[in-house]
Amino acid sequence: MVRGGTALPTAELHIHIEGTLEPEMLVELAARNGVALPTTDLDELRAKYSFADLQSFLDLYYDNLPVLRTDQDFYDLTSSYLARAARAGVRRAEIFFDPQVHLRNDVPLAAIFDGITGALGDSEISSDLILCFLRDLGPEAAMETLRTALPFRERFIGVGLDSAEVGFPPAPFKEVYELAAAEGLHRVAHAGEEGGPDYVRQALDVLGVERIDHGIRAMEDPELVARLRDEQVPLTVCPLSNVALRTIDRLSDHVLPRMLDEGLLACVNSDDPAYFGGYVDDNFAALRSELGLTEQQLATLARNSFTAAFATEEQKAAWKAEIPG
Ligand code: HPA
Ligand code: ZN
Repeated sequence: MVRGGTALPTAELHIHIEGTLEPEMLVELAARNGVALPTTDLDELRAKYSFADLQSFLDLYYDNLPVLRTDQDFYDLTSSYLARAARAGVRRAEIFFDPQVHLRNDVPLAAIFDGITGALGDSEISSDLILCFLRDLGPEAAMETLRTALPFRERFIGVGLDSAEVGFPPAPFKEVYELAAAEGLHRVAHAGEEGGPDYVRQALDVLGVERIDHGIRAMEDPELVARLRDEQVPLTVCPLSNVALRTIDRLSDHVLPRMLDEGLLACVNSDDPAYFGGYVDDNFAALRSELGLTEQQLATLARNSFTAAFATEEQKAAWKAEIPG
């Protein structure tokens, strides 16, 4: 859904490549690979993209992923996202992927990396890959995944932690993140999406993350808010995702304006745009029209995204210079 508005130049730092699988591509890849779907009717498929919470989304997200089988599939998925992202004003994309899902579906790691990084190399958008661990599979599985991926060390710049949050706190992943740090990888983690402020603290203190993905529940804890402000910890906020997964009832309830008022380094991202009703420009448009953010506040969010990016100071300055106002 394109809600209109001029696309602000931005960095997208919280985007799951598997969450860009639109129903049209799902059907196309299923046909190409002979994978059976419960239905190939696009309206019926779209009707399923309605969720009660994070888990109900994850159930559909994982159910759809067996259609991804070859390097060409990953190439097509990634190039289609990058083409849409270019129209959304994205200058820099730091893209999550979930290798454990594909390994479980018997897809070789080389096919995943070749497909995704092939598409990144063919795009004009500056981009890099962040390998995510599925927290509900536990720290041993994460460690094994990292070790399996290390022969491809030059193909990704960081690690993240995603999937079901509540009941799967960050702390047990300490050793995995220590190995990632020793390998010179950037470290981020989902925390404070459905989990409470303590998950955000653990991600910072135990895992040593450089950014928090989501972090909206940190706003429940004034001491933590003060720390996030003082340390200027980037928070990759995903407004339409929070509404789609019913973390909040409506966009007008979102904490993002309060985050900006508190001086936090928040930025705007789409998370899983095929599932949550829009890409990053749609998120910006909704913040403008439904939450009443001013052009100045939107420009601050765009500027924050570049500040938070894993890019050179020269690149960040050049992108920021493109922001109007
Ligand atoms: N939250 C947690 N894990 C995920 C998400 C999300 O929005 N998308 C894909 N994995
Ligand atoms: Zn996410």
